[in-house]
Amino acid sequence: MPDDRPSPADIAALRRDYMRRGLDQADLDPDPFHQFGAWLKEALETKAILEPNAMVLSTVSPSGQPSGRYVLLKGFDSSGFVFFTNYQSAKARDFDANPRAALTIGWIELERQVNIHGSVKKTPRSAVEAYFASRPRGSRLGAWASHQSKVIPNRDILEARLAEANARFPGDVPPPPEWGGFCLVPERIEFWQGRSNRLHDRLLYRKEGSSWIIERLSP
Ligand SMILES: Cc1cc2nc3c(=O)[nH]c(=O)nc-3n(C[C@H](O)[C@H](O)[C@H](O)COP(=O)(O)O)c2cc1C
Repeated sequence: MPDDRPSPADIAALRRDYMRRGLDQADLDPDPFHQFGAWLKEALETKAILEPNAMVLSTVSPSGQPSGRYVLLKGFDSSGFVFFTNYQSAKARDFDANPRAALTIGWIELERQVNIHGSVKKTPRSAVEAYFASRPRGSRLGAWASHQSKVIPNRDILEARLAEANARFPGDVPPPPEWGGFCLVPERIEFWQGRSNRLHDRLLYRKEGSSWIIERLSP
């Protein structure tokens, strides 16, 4: 069989100089949520990003093991950043012991990254129900079929559970009790813009009392 792996030297040689634009404190909105909204709008408008609302959620287990996985941003306002998941999943188990978490959004096509640190809280049930109702029927049934993060013997069990859920809910499909949302309430939000010669711009909003302090970090 031909070896079609890239060579270690090929991987090491991958590099790109980031030259699109700079980021200065004078360009920033004093409110980090407005700033985030402006960047998200640009990410949506470029049409070049497959999942502009995808973000890596990092959690830490009770034994101190960090884990990261993508989730989709489904809303944000001045109270935080909302995503939906299963409350029995590995990430939610981590939150039971340690609600501290981080979100990383990589809009690489725009040479941008946003890093958010804070703590999560569950979203109100009314918000979960409203969002769940907006999902396509197949996704709603899928939420009933998947016991997220559990080991399963094969794929057939998922198809069987999906058929079961379809028969159980011929009309409206309510959210499963273990399905819900989290809101990450931020304490730090860093906006990163790639620059030439690896001298990137990093501007950090840090919460102090009820105000946000903006500081520049070395790349
Ligand atoms: C682009 C993308 C978006 C995803 N969005 C979500 C999401 O919004 N909620 C979710 O529970 N899982 C989402 N997933 C799946 C998660 O990455 C992960 O596999 C799942 O939540 C189980 O994670 P856990 O076992 O660490 O809890 C997404 C995966 C990808 C690649």
